[in-house]
Amino acid sequence: MGNYTLIHKGTIVGSTGLSRADVLLDGTRIAAIVDPAGADDLASLSPDIHVVDATDLLVFPGLIDVHTHMRQPGGEQKEDFFTGTSAALAGGVTSIFAMPNTAPAITSCDTLDLALDLASQNAVCDYGVFIGATNTNMRLKADHPDLLECGLKMYMGSSTGDLLVEDFGAQYEHFQLYPHDRVIGVHAEHEPAVRYFGQHGERRPHIAAEIEVARAVALAERCNRRVHVCHVSSRREVEIIRDARARGLPVTCEFAPHYLFLTTDFDHGQVTEQRTDELAMFAPGSILEPQSLYQMNPPLREERDIATLWANLDVADCIATDHAPHTLAEKNSAKPPSGVPGLETMLPLLLTAAHEGRLTLADIARLCCEGPARTFNIAAKGRIAPGFDADITLVDPREQWVIGERPYFSKCGWSPFAGWHMRGIVKQVFLRGQLAFADGTVVAKRGAGKRISN
Ligand code: DOR
Ligand code: ZN
Ligand code: ZN
Repeated sequence: MGNYTLIHKGTIVGSTGLSRADVLLDGTRIAAIVDPAGADDLASLSPDIHVVDATDLLVFPGLIDVHTHMRQPGGEQKEDFFTGTSAALAGGVTSIFAMPNTAPAITSCDTLDLALDLASQNAVCDYGVFIGATNTNMRLKADHPDLLECGLKMYMGSSTGDLLVEDFGAQYEHFQLYPHDRVIGVHAEHEPAVRYFGQHGERRPHIAAEIEVARAVALAERCNRRVHVCHVSSRREVEIIRDARARGLPVTCEFAPHYLFLTTDFDHGQVTEQRTDELAMFAPGSILEPQSLYQMNPPLREERDIATLWANLDVADCIATDHAPHTLAEKNSAKPPSGVPGLETMLPLLLTAAHEGRLTLADIARLCCEGPARTFNIAAKGRIAPGFDADITLVDPREQWVIGERPYFSKCGWSPFAGWHMRGIVKQVFLRGQLAFADGTVVAKRGAGKRISN
């Protein structure tokens, strides 16, 4: 007798729409999609089947976040694989890819082994780890074809950490030598422009991103290879990527929640006293500098950029959080680091936007489940269909709550969305058939996560 679970009377969400059907899990896999009318017979035929009542709940494939910073090794005061993947589960995310800008950075076989080891001991959701491009490691994958990285990350412009490949020749050689069907994810801000404007008191204007996204696209075309543009934030970037795809180039991209939901109004400190109070829900009594809290790379953009992102969701292959936790002490320091956390808030924000009619539930499944799986060639995840991993996120789309008033799992302990009113909450999460998160509690054991092969 198998180890069956039946997700009963829920509504399955897929990229083509909703369907009322039950999902039968057999151990770690999805065995069948079943008519709920027949499911009662099934339950009576197999008395040891575990039935999960999903009445009035949405049944999403576990979300896949292809852009997170887990901070291990070296940044454990901000996050680690256990707290970061706990935050993932709380946000309905069952798979994460971790970025290599750690300390040490993940740029070699040994450092990749180190990160994968830390993940395997601590992660409570499934994971992959990126290799970071340097000015010298272009031959790494060619020399080690069995390397277990999920993709190559290239910082074409500098950001947190010391990874940077700004020189054209080094960029070109990576584009040539990394396997052409595997993903190079690029942080595309033109470093000379970042430096120049920085010296003139202007932080990372649009032109920095525009130049480097155009360059990444040109490199992909010249080298006849794939490229994936991380965290698209501005209007021209969208146009460049749309044009590249219209020309048939293998360019994919991700949008991030903070560029969809926040504007420069937050970054420029035009933050009301009420906002400061809301943020303080996470850290009662502490003095918060909203300006540095919202500092990130690329920076927040203007209203018209945000409008362009929303109007061009079809250009996005994925929504990825760029979950970039830093402690409040670091954020309040004289040299605040860039980045904001986002794993726990992405799905609630998108569900709330869906309720407001800004996108559909099917869009969420496309952008957070199927799209990431397609972009990164993850064969067994991203859809609710027979044979797929039994990664399931159950959502109550009606429940209302306020960010900051519920258990929070990221070690950084704050959210840029504190005080925001949400409609839609993650109730239960199954990871490969096992209950991993339920009603505000992580139940998966440390180390339950597995490396994703792609
Ligand atoms: O704001 C950011 N924070 N942008 C990045 O590219 C890196 C990230 C981090 O690691 O903190
Ligand atoms: Zn980046
Ligand atoms: Zn990032």
